[in-house]
Amino acid sequence: MRITVIGTGYLGAVHAACMADIGHEVLGVDVDTAKIEALAAGRPPFHEPGLGEFLTRNVEAGRLRFSTSLAAAAGFGDVHFVCVGTPQKPGSNAADLRYVDAVIEGLAPGLRAGALVVGKSTVPVGTAARLIERIRELAPVGTVAELAWNPEFLREGFAVHDTLHPDRVVVGVTSNDADTVLREVYAPILETNRTPWISTSLATAELAKVSANAFLATKISFINAMADVCDAAGGDVVTLADAIGYDPRIGRRFLSAGVGFGGGCLPKDIRAFIARAGELGVDEALSFLRNVDEINMRRRRRAVEVARELAGGTFLGRNIAVLGAAFKPDSDDVRDSPALNVAAAVQLQGAQVRVHDPAAIDNARALFPTLDYVPDVEKACEHADLVLHLTEWRDYRELDPSVLAGIVRHPRVLDGRNALDVQVWRAAGWTVRALGRAHDRGRSGEGMPAPRPGGWISLKG
Ligand code: UGA
Repeated sequence: MRITVIGTGYLGAVHAACMADIGHEVLGVDVDTAKIEALAAGRPPFHEPGLGEFLTRNVEAGRLRFSTSLAAAAGFGDVHFVCVGTPQKPGSNAADLRYVDAVIEGLAPGLRAGALVVGKSTVPVGTAARLIERIRELAPVGTVAELAWNPEFLREGFAVHDTLHPDRVVVGVTSNDADTVLREVYAPILETNRTPWISTSLATAELAKVSANAFLATKISFINAMADVCDAAGGDVVTLADAIGYDPRIGRRFLSAGVGFGGGCLPKDIRAFIARAGELGVDEALSFLRNVDEINMRRRRRAVEVARELAGGTFLGRNIAVLGAAFKPDSDDVRDSPALNVAAAVQLQGAQVRVHDPAAIDNARALFPTLDYVPDVEKACEHADLVLHLTEWRDYRELDPSVLAGIVRHPRVLDGRNALDVQVWRAAGWTVRALGRAHDRGRSGEGMPAPRPGGWISLKG
């Protein structure tokens, strides 16, 4: 099929490459010329494991091309996937829909007869119904253009895998034809994976996306709230998560306590959901999400407090090494990153901060230019009074704490992700603190279990 993917960010670029890989002829479109040039040369404009190979293979095969022209997209495609961003509106909790609207305005006048526009961006419920009206107004007379909503559930860092092996495909449609076209688009994926197919209304499809993210955010904030209780009561939140997580009704994934969730999705999606519920007159139904947000933002403050305590009650004159800038490992995305937020707060309180990240340094520098960024862990840790482990990259979990102990001034570490092997670090002479593991405060820290193999179960898929 001839497919366009409009918006080539973390979602669109991966979707375009994967659609080409399963055999479609794909045109990726973006307003960012530099990004389009990189993609057309087979170079991913951001860090996403596996994407480079998929791009090169399909660009070389001639199945995947790129353009900056919406008019070209309208003339090319039978199916148009809209994958542009819906960030938080400045000064409001609501989603900013200007990019989605701009795509519809640019695309609709050139749509071919029978074209199907498929929204993938995360939008407030009711958006698709509004866009259908707009397409009807703008599309040329005689064009029976349709709109469907097909939310995407991929995780950054696993985006290629998640696109090709989705847990489920949800489509919001207003006709059987649209459902049939989408089944055809995804046929190779459905056949390989026996993927559940959920065909529903536009509103349910839109809601499926935001409520999934709201649930995930709630799960993380739940365990982080338990971490606070553990700190106060002398409990251990990692063991607690294991203990409740073995119950299949609860499940261990997304129960990793630490500095909380960040990124370009969870934080802004729960806020937009709250805002939309208010518009719909069901504000109270989602009032718990305000708590979820507050618990999450408190994690960052809590990390700074514990760090200050560990640093001897003040950051003045202290060298602090920060390991991690991305909002999660295997990503260079620093949007609303807890790690960077904590690093900046510690610096503002007088510390000399050196930040390391395996992939996100350039993006981090653009967002927080006053922090000092270094290319290797050793450099970050040189003469450090305290190490803050804030993004659980594998590289950090595999560090040799005895080597690092010889580099720092004081071997003290705050594991903000509960992902380091505490016993190994302690055996190498480190004082280790973590969030929600109160009984580790003593020097011996007896009884503190090692994290489960591989650290974050939730992110291992
Ligand atoms: C999230 C959802 O997981 C995807 O299903 C969804 O498609 C995507 O948003 C989206 O809306 O586009 P993503 O933002 O890539 O995916 O990241 P997650 O893996 O969900 O992690 C989000 C944040 O939660 C990260 O900062 C992570 O460190 C944190 N987290 C995750 C925890 O603090 N604890 C956990 O147990 C799990």
